Amino acid sequence: MRQPLVAGNWKLNGSLESVSALLAGIAAQISTVGATEVAVCPPSVYLQHAGQLLQDTGIVLGAQDCSDQDQGAYTGEVSAAMIREFGCTYVIVGHSERRHIYGESDALVAAKFAQARENALVPILCVGETLDERENGQTEAVIARQLDAVLASSGVEGFGKAVIAYEPVWAIGTGKTATPGQAQQVHAFVRDRLRRQDEGIAGGIRILYGGSMKPENAGALLQENDIDGGLIGGASLKAEDFVAIAASGT
Ligand code: 13P
Repeated sequence: MRQPLVAGNWKLNGSLESVSALLAGIAAQISTVGATEVAVCPPSVYLQHAGQLLQDTGIVLGAQDCSDQDQGAYTGEVSAAMIREFGCTYVIVGHSERRHIYGESDALVAAKFAQARENALVPILCVGETLDERENGQTEAVIARQLDAVLASSGVEGFGKAVIAYEPVWAIGTGKTATPGQAQQVHAFVRDRLRRQDEGIAGGIRILYGGSMKPENAGALLQENDIDGGLIGGASLKAEDFVAIAASGT
């Protein structure tokens, strides 16, 4: 049985004041989420502050990105070891905004995934196709390419302690959600690709859906066999909506 995971990706949002208020709001309602694991991923400068506020709440902390490098002359980068030191459990790698706005390649994402694992973080590897790719029938080929880059560098064992998030680019921040059937089809494809290499790892890995997930559509998505939780953007900035999504996972 896979424990559902609902993680909030706050992206480039927040202030000291709003981080405090949002976390207090989530913590106040956390008892309603049942067995679902709840994580939040604030901007990296707020990790320490958030970590202190989350003590003893059961809510876990994640970062939105990490460097592919250990240390050195890499201005602006934040290493996986630094993130780990501030109490993070998870780190998102390969989010479509990083891939598409900042031009991150499959190889760079694979290197970040490896860095996360080497530093005892659980990577949340994002994969997903654009609207053009979907309309041209390339969804599976794109997802396979994104997964295979990580399989090639970290091996299937790399997925033993990792999470995958399927986030169709056309559904992110657009209000358009994949239907439960569309999402389930891709999730099953992802699991099957891992199953070819390791049955146990494929069966155990949590595959989250992300893209305009809201309290109104979360229940139906989370009922699908291969959808093990959600990676939530916009709706994770409202405590009530975020907790309602988490509560529909159980
Ligand atoms: P939205 O929930 O705002 O569509 O964002 C999804 C996402 O990108 C989570 O990583």
